[in-house]
Amino acid sequence: MDNAFKDQPLKGKVAFIAGASSGINLGIAQHFATNGAKVAIISRSHEKIIAAAETVEGGIGMAADVRDYESVDKALATTVEQFGKVDIVVSGAAGNFVAPALGMSSNGFKTVVDIDLIGTFNVLRASFQYLNRPGASLMSITAPQAHNPSMFQAHVCAAKAGINMLTQCLAMEWGPAGVRVNAISPGPIADTEGMARLAPTPEMEAAVKASVAMRGYGEKRDVADVAMYLATENARYITGTIIDCDGGTKLGNASGDALGEFA
Ligand code: HXC
Ligand code: NAP
Repeated sequence: MDNAFKDQPLKGKVAFIAGASSGINLGIAQHFATNGAKVAIISRSHEKIIAAAETVEGGIGMAADVRDYESVDKALATTVEQFGKVDIVVSGAAGNFVAPALGMSSNGFKTVVDIDLIGTFNVLRASFQYLNRPGASLMSITAPQAHNPSMFQAHVCAAKAGINMLTQCLAMEWGPAGVRVNAISPGPIADTEGMARLAPTPEMEAAVKASVAMRGYGEKRDVADVAMYLATENARYITGTIIDCDGGTKLGNASGDALGEFA
């Protein structure tokens, strides 16, 4: 991502990012590295995460499943061995498939809750002992489904709603240690696995774009910019917030034309 700030706002900072072998989280990792941070990334697939790390300036990649607390803990310990500390944590690993509740088994529902919600607890909980405190910034990646009930997304809605509440609880508990805990809620983002699954045809994509107030998909860069802000000292008094980076998705369907002749 070619948007380095001249003053390298993350110089001297170390970031640990979960679920960063692709998509939005890899975009955040690349943006952090370009702006001076040392970055460690994890995901399940050894092959994918090593290849992804090669696209993150000075970054390291490790295979770790966020459902497995010990493997997350080990990856954090390796990060500290390599880079000396952890200042910034992004918990973004997620799974999704489109299915009605009656079309998913208990294990199907549990799989998404395990990756998204339990995984986020594991990443944030395990990171605490490694954090450079005070001043650490933790953030989760949630979704509008946490707020907007959605058909065929019962597992994601439940898991992401849990992440929002967890974010706020941890912000209260860890604020006294100088640790900020926030979340970013991206809307539909272009060129991602998430949208490939949710809107797989050109017609579905067009319908989503037409329903968003800002009329279109966002870009990975849009989410990375919010993550950068939360990671820096500029956000030092911000904790327990869910920042929507969604073109207005959370507001609801905006497909009507209220401007008409007045535009
Ligand atoms: C019904 C399904 C299913 C489907 C899987 N399952 N796909 N059920 N419909 N389409 C069920 C399986 O049958 C199984 O239940 C259970 O889920 C676990 O499946 P596994 O394949 O064993 O799980 P696993 O290998 O852990 O893979 C997890 C996964 C997979 C979520 C199912 O899709 C994955 O790895 N996803 C990661 C990538 C991803 O989803 N990226 C998009 C993130 S975007 P049984 O009962 O048979 O054992 C996102 C969107 C947010 O989060 C919002 C965007 C706006
Ligand atoms: P993505 O590219 O599929 O990213 C998901 C990442 O999670 C992958 O790197 C995947 O890598 C990793 N992962 C999955 N299960 C894991 C596990 N158990 N342990 C560790 N890593 C795991 O999808 P994306 O669309 O960019 O989504 C990224 C984040 O943004 C997710 O939290 C998603 O919910 C959120 N989001 C996306 C959109 C969107 O428009 N795309 C909108 C709102 C929110 P491996 O396969 O190598 O494990």
